[in-house]
Amino acid sequence: MAGSKTDLPQNLIAQIRYLEDLFTVDTQKLKAISDHFVSELDKGLSVEGGSIPMNPTWVMAFPDGHETGTYLALDMGGTNLRVCEITLTDQKSEFDIIQSKYRMPEELKTTNNNEELWDYIADCLHQFVETHHGDCAKVDVLPLGFTFSYPATQNYIDEGILQRWTKGFDINGVEGKNVVPMLDAALAKRGVPIRVTALINDTTGTMIASAYTDTKMKIGCIFGTGCNAAYMEEVGQIPKLAQLNLPADTPMAINCEWGAFDNEHKVLPRTSYDVAIDRDSPRPGQQAFEKMIAGLYLGEIFRLVLVDLHDNEEVNIFKGQDIAILRKPYSLDSSFLSGVEEDPFENLQETYDTFAQKLNIVCTLPELELIRRLAELIGTRAARLSACGVAAICKKKNYKSCHVGADGSVFNKYPHFKARGAQALKEILDWPEKSNPKEEDPIEVLAAEDGSGVGAALIAALTLKRVKGGNLAGILHPEHFK
Ligand code: GLC
Repeated sequence: MAGSKTDLPQNLIAQIRYLEDLFTVDTQKLKAISDHFVSELDKGLSVEGGSIPMNPTWVMAFPDGHETGTYLALDMGGTNLRVCEITLTDQKSEFDIIQSKYRMPEELKTTNNNEELWDYIADCLHQFVETHHGDCAKVDVLPLGFTFSYPATQNYIDEGILQRWTKGFDINGVEGKNVVPMLDAALAKRGVPIRVTALINDTTGTMIASAYTDTKMKIGCIFGTGCNAAYMEEVGQIPKLAQLNLPADTPMAINCEWGAFDNEHKVLPRTSYDVAIDRDSPRPGQQAFEKMIAGLYLGEIFRLVLVDLHDNEEVNIFKGQDIAILRKPYSLDSSFLSGVEEDPFENLQETYDTFAQKLNIVCTLPELELIRRLAELIGTRAARLSACGVAAICKKKNYKSCHVGADGSVFNKYPHFKARGAQALKEILDWPEKSNPKEEDPIEVLAAEDGSGVGAALIAALTLKRVKGGNLAGILHPEHFK
């Protein structure tokens, strides 16, 4: 068979073995990681705190499917700004949605002047309102749920103090500040009739949107440019909220910000490549877990290994070729890696073509074999490590069976991510073999409903409902919910 491993030169076989050792996380290690994860989740809820922020979000109920009303939602993601208008209809668990997407200009992600960011967002919202409602000057104020998917401390649901930028963003003058008045000011300046009523993390939105249509949904996860999860805790289990004197069984959604897990490098099996990524990132020492899993970094890990194997004289892949394009940091994104894993041809023709066209590198068949294996190893490690977080929340909450709503480009598009994650969960939680392969796993990670659209609308609706019911906990501007 052309390209079978037996044809590989000895040094490449040895190299593949070495990479397999480096990137494989075995069952025992998965278990150790998830056990440590449980204690770190606990620490994050304590008064002293830990590296996982465990931010209370003031989302204090699951939806029951009977929420109604019309809301705007804004999602400030990495590639797009999405604006939606969502109507939760009288039909149980149903909604209508209209939406527009606007490109997020790359240069805004690292601008020195944060006003440029807020002005751009206000312009997009202005355009949306004018298109769907007509002259802004004549429109009544519309409530908006703002999905801001970065770690933000929330003393109130309508406030969000950015702890630090993640996912490659680095905009001056926003860290440590409340982002809501910044957006409100830009909206006021342009006369856009919108008021930010709730600040939402994508994971919380995902959990709530998914629970709207499936009551078994207990956790929301994002496996995309970043990686994070939210779940519903009880206030009595959150020592850092004890001073509020709320009844112990009051529900409170927690945005874990688990990307920060193991920032102190106690358990994660980091390679020299992971260390290099962290060192050269805008926030070294932060988001240790996320940097091994999230879409932003998968292509970069892969690139760093290939450059290293080229420069290493004993291996010297792509011998004699100019790898200048490959040397450019962040030149390969996770879709490049997906492409390699998806190549359907025995001789890896598509991978050969991609390397030739995009990187100007002509690969030999043994090199292609190594490339494919490396992509598998990196993608598998990401999926298996992700499962440690899901298992940790389930262990902490003693969930023996539930659904987990997941969203994000890696979850939705990366080949085998779901199956690899499911396999890892089975290993961590010691599930027995299924008698029927079609049977559900006790804990199933499923594609979520639209968190930053429907989820944001539901959170606005749930908040409105509790304000009306007289529960003003965590509401800075009750008048905005009237
Ligand atoms: C990063 C952000 C977090 C977000 C996640 C997924 O980890 O810090 O807030 O939920 O990416 O988008």
